[in-house]
This record gives sequence, C-alpha cells and structure tokens, in this order.
Amino acid sequence: MSSVSEDDEPMTNPAKSPAGGSEPAAGAEQPAGAAESGALGTLTEPREGEPLLKVSGLKKHFPITKGLFKRRVGAVLAVDGLDFEVRAGETLGVVGESGCGKSTMGRLITRLLEPTDGKIEFEGKDITHLGVGGMRPLRRDVQMIFQDPYSSLNPRHTVGAIVSAPFKLQGVVPDGGVKKEVQRLLQVVGLSPEHYNRYPHEFSGGQRQRIGIARALALNPKLVVADEPVSALDVSIQAQVVNLLDDLQAELGLTYVIIAHDLSVIRHVSDRIAVMYLGKVVELTDRQSLYDRPMHPYTRALLSAVPVPDPRRKSAGGRERILLQGDVPSPMNPPSGCRFHTRCWKATEVCRTKEPPLVPLATGHQVACHHPENAPDQEPGDTKLLKDLKKK
Ligand SMILES: Nc1ncnc2c1ncn2[C@@H]1O[C@H](COP(=O)(O)OP(=O)(O)OP(=O)(O)O)[C@@H](O)[C@H]1O
Ligand code: SF4
Ligand SMILES: [Mg+2]
Repeated sequence: MSSVSEDDEPMTNPAKSPAGGSEPAAGAEQPAGAAESGALGTLTEPREGEPLLKVSGLKKHFPITKGLFKRRVGAVLAVDGLDFEVRAGETLGVVGESGCGKSTMGRLITRLLEPTDGKIEFEGKDITHLGVGGMRPLRRDVQMIFQDPYSSLNPRHTVGAIVSAPFKLQGVVPDGGVKKEVQRLLQVVGLSPEHYNRYPHEFSGGQRQRIGIARALALNPKLVVADEPVSALDVSIQAQVVNLLDDLQAELGLTYVIIAHDLSVIRHVSDRIAVMYLGKVVELTDRQSLYDRPMHPYTRALLSAVPVPDPRRKSAGGRERILLQGDVPSPMNPPSGCRFHTRCWKATEVCRTKEPPLVPLATGHQVACHHPENAPDQEPGDTKLLKDLKKK
C-alpha cells in the first residue's frame, strides 16, 4: 500500500489499480440480512470493472419561488444533465470549483435528493424514483461520508450509539451482537474498542472522520460516496484519512465516488476522474490521461493552478499557469452554448451558440469542447476568438 504525506508531489498512488481488491478482509463478514435484495429484486453482483452505478441525463433543478403563493420564478440548475458510470471496485474522483454541483450530484446518487430528471441505475436496476420502502435495501449498499466531521456527528450521542445507528435503522443484528461489531469497526478504522462510550467532542477532527467512516462501513456497503472527506482536516491528517480510505477499499472491495476540490487529493485517490463545471461533466477519463493530456481548457486551467513545492517548476506538470478570469457564473442563469465560454481563452462564436456534447476524443477519454487541447479541433472552421471580437 502506498502511503502519502503532505509533501508528496504529486500525490501519486502506484498501488492504486482499478482492481482495488475484491475479496472482503478476514473478519469483514456480511452483516446479517445484508444479502437480502428486498424491493430491488434479485441483484447479481457486478464483477470488477462492470458498472455498479449508471447515471444518464441526471438533473436537479432547485426551484426559486417568490411571494406568499410561492410562485416559481426560476430555478438553480445545480446538476444539469450528467452521464457517467461508476465501475465496481474503482474510485471515481469528482472535481470542480465551488458551486458546480458536486455535492448535489453526490446526494442524488445516494438518493438523499429526488432528481428532477434523468435515470440512476444501481446494479442494473432503476432506482431513480424508489420510495422509502424500495430504498431500504439500497441504504445498506450505498453510504455517504460527509465533509464536516464536526457537524455530521451528533455531539449528544456516544461513538457506540453513532456507529450502531445504521444497524438499528435497518433492524440488522450482526453475529456476536451490535456492540461487538461496532468495536470491531472502530478497530478497522484505526480507533480503539474502548472509544465506544466516549463522545465526539473528545476526539480530534481526523478521529471524528474515522468515526464517520466506521458508521458508513457498518452495513458492509458496496458504494461509498465521500463528499470532501478530508477538506476540513489538517494536511497531515488528510493524508492519514486518504490512506485509510485506500486501505479499506483494498481490503473490503469497496467502490468509491470521492468528491473533492483539491486536485492533489483527487489524483491520489482516483482511478478515473470527472471534471464538473456548472452542473455538467466537461471531461471524464482515467487519472493518468487527465494529468498527462488534459483536453478540456477548464481542466488545463485547474491543473495549472496546482501548487508545487519545487519553486523552479511553474506548476504541476511544468505547465504554464493559466489564471481563470472571473467567478463561476450563476447556475440560475448559465451562459449559452458552452458554459465555460465566458472564462475560456479559446472561446469562439460556436462556443457561445452551440453546446459541445461530451464525446470520446480518445480511448476512454470523454470531453465536451469544440476546441480541445491535445486533440483535433472539433470546429476547425471557427477560428475567430471571442476575446478578439470583443476588443474590436
Ligand atoms: N437545497 C438547495 N436549494 C437551492 N439551491 C441549492 C440547494 N442546494 C444546492 N443549491 C445550489 O446548487 C448549486 C450547486 O451546489 P452544490 O452544493 O452541489 O455545489 P458544490 O460543487 O458541492 O460546491 P462546494 O464545493 O462549495 O461544496 C449552488 O449554486 C447551490 O447554491
Ligand atoms: S467549447 Fe469553446 S468555450 Fe468551451 S471549453 Fe471548449 S474552447 Fe472553451
Ligand atoms: Mg459541496
């Protein structure tokens, strides 16, 4: 297992492979009842590399209302048409600027939010609009780790009560009883069984995040969605938690969707990476291709801003630093055509008028851009840059 420290540059993870490891660790037995399929019917276990989760045309528009009668006057297009798959055993990293819809996407695929449109399939079954009863078995298979280990744990509950809550909610009694299983889980995440009766305020941020991870693992899930799991932690502690997530994946055969805005963290943990901009995926490929040959100008700009400890180098990968102009536009009224055209130095007229589809421009490398980097121009006839036209 590779380990990572705060001065690793880049945070590479040579041990990471899509395989990840499929055999549950010794002692990681299935909690009683976890194999039930319930309303999802008979589920066939996806093999490694096969899609565990498939998302098509996924949208979440939050209505904006006004007045006493809550008249709808608009909508926040938080997630506006996502298509991607998460393969069994892999880690899909999701990266993008604040407000681009990462958390909304995470809450949609864990079904904590009801989608406005689109389809979510888990192990081949449509789960887009499952009700509470239908979701019950899915709650065991899909778990979420939240960003803030300070607010996501109830301060009035003991660690034992917090980690055993999923068993109680699902009516699951593991072999040997809930307490024994919770104490085992605490050990799995690097805490001590004696922590069972202690309260969250007695723990550091990193330890609290371990408690959150133990809670997420309680029911032996297949998919874990971690929303900014380390961004609230000190850098040195971040590395410990990232390594713990890595080790758990290898031991338990977990599939992860990890949301982060820190490209170093994303680089370390991911097999494939989806780059989001204003509610859309603009680039999706494996980690190596993304860092070696980014094709979307936005990805290139993000990568060029990754700080490096070596001052002789300009930026990650030795690339020229690209400073993005302005803030992310409002998702209430996103720009026409390519949503990035208001900030893109390569934008032409077609970018303003025609939305580029997310298409494969190399093997396993999907990009939504008319004038990609490191790939043939998709609109070679359109050469006049918007910034030059504006000057005129
Ligand atoms: N419940 C809600 N009602 C209305 N708008 C919402 C709601 N939740 C999120 N939004 C809006 O949707 C957009 C996307 O939010 P989201 O939290 O998904 O972004 P994010 O990429 O996770 O950002 P960050 O990196 O800051 O966590 C934002 O403009 C946000 O204000
Ligand atoms: S489509 Fe045009 S504006 Fe959008 S990223 Fe590509 S070049 Fe830039
Ligand atoms: Mg978020």
